[in-house]
Amino acid sequence: MAFKNVFHCTLLALLLIGLWAFNCNARDLKYDSMHERHGQWMARYGKVYKDNYEKELRYKIFEQNVKFIEAFNSEGNKSYKLGVNQFADLTSEEFQAKNKIKRDVFSKKLGKSTFKYEHVTQVPDALDWRQEGAVTPVKAQACDDCWAFTAVAAIEGITKLTTGTLIDLSEQELIDCDTNGEDHGCREGVMDQAFEFVMENKGIASEATYPYRGVDGICNSNASSQHAASIKGYEDVPANNETALLLAVANQPVAVVVDSKTFQFYKGGVFTGPCGINFDHGFLFVGYGVSDNGIKYWLAKNSWGTTWGEQGYMRIQRDVAAKEGMCSIAMVPSYPIA
Ligand SMILES: *[C@@H]1O[C@H](CO)[C@@H](O)[C@H](O)[C@H]1NC(C)=O
Ligand SMILES: *[C@@H]1O[C@H](CO)[C@@H](O)[C@H](O)[C@H]1NC(C)=O
Ligand SMILES: *[C@@H]1O[C@H](CO)[C@@H](O)[C@H](O)[C@H]1NC(C)=O
Repeated sequence: MAFKNVFHCTLLALLLIGLWAFNCNARDLKYDSMHERHGQWMARYGKVYKDNYEKELRYKIFEQNVKFIEAFNSEGNKSYKLGVNQFADLTSEEFQAKNKIKRDVFSKKLGKSTFKYEHVTQVPDALDWRQEGAVTPVKAQACDDCWAFTAVAAIEGITKLTTGTLIDLSEQELIDCDTNGEDHGCREGVMDQAFEFVMENKGIASEATYPYRGVDGICNSNASSQHAASIKGYEDVPANNETALLLAVANQPVAVVVDSKTFQFYKGGVFTGPCGINFDHGFLFVGYGVSDNGIKYWLAKNSWGTTWGEQGYMRIQRDVAAKEGMCSIAMVPSYPIA
């Protein structure tokens, strides 16, 4: 009996040690796997931290973000999904500080008050300007120059629709050469003023002639004088009117402003909020439609590379109750005229 008791005790002790060891390992494994994931993520996005202190700080933010994304996705019943992307080691405050669209300038109306699509009566139920070859591949902004990417993408679109040729045009020319009003290269800018610059300059260079560098530079006036496309003017779509916006987007890609503060981890589906109407970003509407689950959406081309969203695109809810539209998209849309 005594022997058996001892045996039992030993077995229990061994079992406990085993369990403890197992727990320990499990914890280490979990810790290691998140570190491993961070390491793989760093390699994928070419992230380099200056020291171990920064690495550990960024790791903690990464871990929190991954947990947030996984919790959001597991809630189900959502019209869109989040995903781990290049912004995964940024806090939401840091992410929000990245985008700068000049609000005060936008609140004055710059575009002529005429609206050339006012009398359009027929529009298709769904449209995707990519299928008409009017959209260049998704690009990646390297500084606060969404305004340049959006204006250029709008000009690329109308140029294709009027000339039949899709030409990749230069954001860097706007960053370096456009000093109109509030256009300050990598710091901030305004799409309508970029259209004005292209009008005054009598054209815009191709990407090949004036390639993107993603930093402020001195204007290369030689490259800037080699025009690959030009525009005659631009107009603002009547504000806070998604019906008017539809008439415009049905006829050409349209530059819009948007409150992008909650877009950090958008991965796919129709974005239905939450978001505000304090716009801080610009992107291009290249179509619209209705999702499989019956939600009306706008199709937007963003400039955050193809690792964000639906290969760089976003579907965002259309025809919402708020007159400003979802995330302020109807507040100041505009388009160039070629
Ligand atoms: C799912 O969402 C819809 C509307 O968005 C809501 O009416 C419904 O109650 C939600 N269902 C659950 C289980 O949360
Ligand atoms: C202007 O650019 C063209 C082609 O990009 C080049 O061949 C030419 O040498 C340049 N001229 C000057 C003055 O830099
Ligand atoms: C919205 O725009 C459409 C098309 O231009 C116009 O017919 C309608 O009156 C506008 N609605 C408002 C509230 O201004």
